[in-house]
Amino acid sequence: MGEKVSLTYKDKTYEYPVITGTENEKAFDTSNLRKETGLITMDYGYQNTGSTKSSITFVNGEEGILRYRGYPIEELAEKATFPETAWLLIYGELPTESQLTLFRRLLTENSLVHENLLHFFREMPPSAHPMGILSSIVNALGLFTPRFYDAESKADEFDLMVAGLVSKIRTIAAFSYKASIGEPFVYPEADRSYCSNFLNMMFSSHTKPYVVNPLMEKALNALLIVHADHEQNCSTSTVRMVGSSQANLYASICAGICALWGPLHGGANQAVLETLIRIQKSGMTIKEVLERAKDKKDPFKLSGFGHRVYKSYDPRAKVLQGLMEKIFDQEDYHDPLLDIARELEHQALRDEYFMERKLYPNVDFYSGILYRAMGIPTNMLTVMFAIGRLPGWIAHWKEMHDDGHLKINRPRQIYTGPNERHWVERKDRT
Ligand code: ACO
Repeated sequence: MGEKVSLTYKDKTYEYPVITGTENEKAFDTSNLRKETGLITMDYGYQNTGSTKSSITFVNGEEGILRYRGYPIEELAEKATFPETAWLLIYGELPTESQLTLFRRLLTENSLVHENLLHFFREMPPSAHPMGILSSIVNALGLFTPRFYDAESKADEFDLMVAGLVSKIRTIAAFSYKASIGEPFVYPEADRSYCSNFLNMMFSSHTKPYVVNPLMEKALNALLIVHADHEQNCSTSTVRMVGSSQANLYASICAGICALWGPLHGGANQAVLETLIRIQKSGMTIKEVLERAKDKKDPFKLSGFGHRVYKSYDPRAKVLQGLMEKIFDQEDYHDPLLDIARELEHQALRDEYFMERKLYPNVDFYSGILYRAMGIPTNMLTVMFAIGRLPGWIAHWKEMHDDGHLKINRPRQIYTGPNERHWVERKDRT
């Protein structure tokens, strides 16, 4: 007999089975709770709610552990390429030589977007946020690819769609940047790596030859890998939520991009840089910034700090910090924002408010400074996060569909509005 949790309500006792994961995490299964007791659980912000079992990513927030399919993030960031990591997340194992060759070929062959889609970029207002452009165009991509993955689709059609999305998202990101600065698009080139292609599409032009710095290419690769998945976070849960209605993959990913955009999630990387720039320009002291972040009457939060799961140092932030130091040293590059960020971290980690609440730098705290060193503009930072997170979204969408008993995600509520009342004619309605 497995472990059980007993619940007593109105003198009756009910039992719910305990589920144990491979890393010994435990949950109790309340699927029959309402049927048996008439009760539902209430958990604002889903702080204690498991929405699914998953074999993709393991996070231990107390010990600062992150593994994709069992592989530590530190090893992947050092040794893997982003396409290899994408394959690992989506298909469950590291690709063999022949699988990787096939995947690379598919990425190359599917890197272009339909020429009709270019009108979308050109007609967007120049002030449009790149995340808005990205989500719109990813959704539109589906209109140009009507072979959606459903129960009847063949595996090779899905593989093609995966490669198309992973490859095209970088083309779309670079094109939206080029459109925003009014420069002609630079097309992907077959003999470049995933990251080199992206940097070239972003920064080369007919009048300004651009040579990709191998160190920056390596840094970009590591950045995309550390962002590639993070189990049931806000955007991934959104992708699963939308996909659970059997909406197609493009629509589900589009919704994930929109969820990522918010400053409490992926949008924090843009907010961090904006805070650092504000400190630099206004001459505000770090102490003043921390006081504002601690003031409950002030909506300002210290972006890049705190996490729902990590109650110790975010392992992704550690990887990025190490990478940044190596690169800045080797390139003899200096960014005054890094000095401000380091001082902010130093003071926050010694501040009672942050210590008590276990608020540490998260992945967004240093990623913006690294992207800045590559020349990526501030408003593109969350787009970079989306490029990285795409394989995770696809992996979760696939896992949910492969599970065999797809159930629409539909939480319940406790209604707190008026009881039944009846129509009142206008004029002094009460
Ligand atoms: N600055 C100031 N106070 C903070 C911060 C912060 N960055 N983060 C949390 N707190 C405080 C909260 O006000 C709360 O205080 P209280 O107990 O006195 O009410 C306490 O710490 C616990 O925080 P919650 O907001 O309840 O934690 P939750 O898990 O709901 O939120 C979140 C996590 C959204 C990441 C939060 O820490 C935050 O807003 N951080 C800043 C935004 C950010 O960096 N987001 C990126 C997260 S990583 C990612 O999504 C990729």
